[in-house]
Amino acid sequence: MEKEIKNLREQFKKRLASLETRPELQKIENEYIGRKGLIAQMLKRMSLLSAAEKPKVGQLLNKLKTDLQDALAEKKKELAKGISGEQGYIDITLPGQNFSRGTMHPVELILKETKNIFLGMGFSIVDGPEIELDYYNFEALNIPKDHPARDVQDSFYITPDILLRTQTSPMQVRTMENQSPPVRIVSAGKCFRRDSIDNTHTPMFHQIEGLAVDVDLSLSDLKGVITEFCKQIFGKDRIIRFRPGYFPFVEPGAEVDVSCGLCQGKGCSSCGYSGWLEIMGAGMVHPHVLEMVGYDTEKYTGFAFGMGAERIAMLKYDINDIRLFFENDIRFLTQFK
Ligand code: PHE
Repeated sequence: MEKEIKNLREQFKKRLASLETRPELQKIENEYIGRKGLIAQMLKRMSLLSAAEKPKVGQLLNKLKTDLQDALAEKKKELAKGISGEQGYIDITLPGQNFSRGTMHPVELILKETKNIFLGMGFSIVDGPEIELDYYNFEALNIPKDHPARDVQDSFYITPDILLRTQTSPMQVRTMENQSPPVRIVSAGKCFRRDSIDNTHTPMFHQIEGLAVDVDLSLSDLKGVITEFCKQIFGKDRIIRFRPGYFPFVEPGAEVDVSCGLCQGKGCSSCGYSGWLEIMGAGMVHPHVLEMVGYDTEKYTGFAFGMGAERIAMLKYDINDIRLFFENDIRFLTQFK
């Protein structure tokens, strides 16, 4: 039996050396040291041995068993290392990892959808700097240094001439400086104002700006474009209205409201019982602005509009607190597929 034990040891060594996966290892473990394994069978056969032989063979078998157990444990560790990549070994029998798919941020969804709607109406997309010159953010938009309109956009200045843009309207000027009419652009991005945080204000937010300049553009063109946009983004049954509104770079200027989708304009708590929700500022481009970029104001007219992307998202998805957009709570974010 001693010879047999020696053979078994040799055979085990070879098989252990060539195995590569956990299931193979499990199989060999059962075969050799399992309850009905080879060693167990040999232990049973010991009853046939003489009294003189028994203790020696018993000792050898016990030693064999512990040696095999040690070797198996060692091999297990080695395989685990391989899986973690240290030896470039991958156990393809292991179940794969699940990758969870991210979702689009609601503001990003609105920006994308808005851009697509305006692309469909023949506008192109332009991008501009978030750190802006005072000249583009205010001066060229008919807001000189001492103009009170600067107060409502209390700003983050970097130097007296450079600030974080408070609106996307500077892109009107930058675009017109670079091309001659006809112009049809939208520009979306971050804006910054020194506002206190509450459920409708954050110091950083997103705006979407639109500008069209051409011969014979009138307020009805503006109204048509905005009506189409509102129907596409909020639904076909929505209507809009223009109220007079003041922005130094448009004349006439307007605030645009869309009918409340919850009460169909009848009035409810969501729209402050007015039936309307304010969504943007708009108007015909002020001749001063056109003159500043050298456009012929006798020949060309234009319209412009600007809206807050968070506000549009809040209205579309029925969100009552702007802070939710920036808290990165996964329970909130994963609701937008
Ligand atoms: N820029 C204006 C604002 O931030 C909105 C606006 C854009 C108004 C274009 C008129 C025309 O309030």
